[in-house]
Amino acid sequence: MPYRLLTNATLATMQDSTSYGLIPSASLVVESGNIAWLGPDQQLPGRFKISDNESINCQGQLVTPGLIDCHTHLVYGGNRAVEFEMRLEGASYQQIARAGGGINSTVRHTRDANEQELFDKAADRLHGLMTEGVTTVEIKSGYGLDIENEIKMLKVAQKLADQNPIRVKKTFLGAHALPPEFKADKDRYIDYVCDQMLPAVVEAGLVDAVDGFCEGIAFSVEQMEKVFDKAQALNLPIKLHAEQLSHLGGAAMAAMRGALSVDHVEYLKSQEARILADNNTAAVLLPGAFYTLRETQLPPVQALRRNNVPIAIATDLNPGSSPLHSLLLTMNMACTLFSLTPVEALAGVTINAAKALGLDHQIGSLEVGKSADLVIWGVDHPAVLSYEIGSNHCKSVMIKGQWRENNHQPILN
Ligand code: NIG
Ligand code: FE
Repeated sequence: MPYRLLTNATLATMQDSTSYGLIPSASLVVESGNIAWLGPDQQLPGRFKISDNESINCQGQLVTPGLIDCHTHLVYGGNRAVEFEMRLEGASYQQIARAGGGINSTVRHTRDANEQELFDKAADRLHGLMTEGVTTVEIKSGYGLDIENEIKMLKVAQKLADQNPIRVKKTFLGAHALPPEFKADKDRYIDYVCDQMLPAVVEAGLVDAVDGFCEGIAFSVEQMEKVFDKAQALNLPIKLHAEQLSHLGGAAMAAMRGALSVDHVEYLKSQEARILADNNTAAVLLPGAFYTLRETQLPPVQALRRNNVPIAIATDLNPGSSPLHSLLLTMNMACTLFSLTPVEALAGVTINAAKALGLDHQIGSLEVGKSADLVIWGVDHPAVLSYEIGSNHCKSVMIKGQWRENNHQPILN
């Protein structure tokens, strides 16, 4: 059985989220797309030393798990540069949303765009992430807000997955904002989400998880509970944008239902961290939205740490609150803005991001049996990935055991 061999690597295995799990001068064996063995070079079992196998000397360079961007809205039409200008002239995100802009402005542009137009723009954004070593991305719907347009968005996400060497998780976010045709009747819209939209997107085979936006400008805890009742009746995992701009209690509600993650959580109360921990719910921190909206309320990082809540971080790539197209920059922002350590930042885009997607049995760490998704970096220490601003030391990327060609296949020796 052919296999691939990496030698003389500095492995950051990320097997638990409290240390890099560094193994210097290490070898890693890939067999049938999965990691078959890893450990110090000298301990490499003889059966893997056959000369005609593909063997790469990493020359001491760092090898990490493939990066995971576990929260994006990267399929959308138009952009919101004008709202950026309005905010700089003093308007708030909520004021713009209430005046029909914000998410609903992107809904108009997304409804107007055809599938190919959406695909072309989204592919550019996706390729940007891929150049930084991202091997898994989550993509949300939520700018269609009717059956036809939510399906259009999710089909684009599926096509991105089909045409690129990347793993894509598709999340249905019908409960993102109230579309104008529902004329302020949020309850009627939630009934439409539950009774018509969700069954239709599930029937189309386009949904891996169900998300919502629980906020004053979006939906209440009770409304989100209705959506989750329906999602869970269909056996779909749930997650929630919660406590981003105010505290409504959505995060605790979602965690108590076993949500994979609660995201943003700046206004989460310290005592609620325990509820997340008890339910194995990850907290996904989104420093791009915090930065863009000039939020001043910090997420309760100390309480999350104390309670061993898995902390993930993500770009939240979207045209409004987080036009952030770099997961590496997100790591730096999580450290500088939220005081995460570089270990926590790397765990936040590997093992804990995998947990936030329910994929930690398969990806997120370098571990025997997991998929061989990995990145070779031209750096000598993993902290460099979080420390530098605007650099990209990604040299080579392997996904499911295959080298990704546009991320440079390493020279064999
Ligand atoms: O994650 N919070 C809600 N949804 C997005 C924002 C989307 C938008 O403004 O277009 C977020 O920040
Ligand atoms: Fe978001």
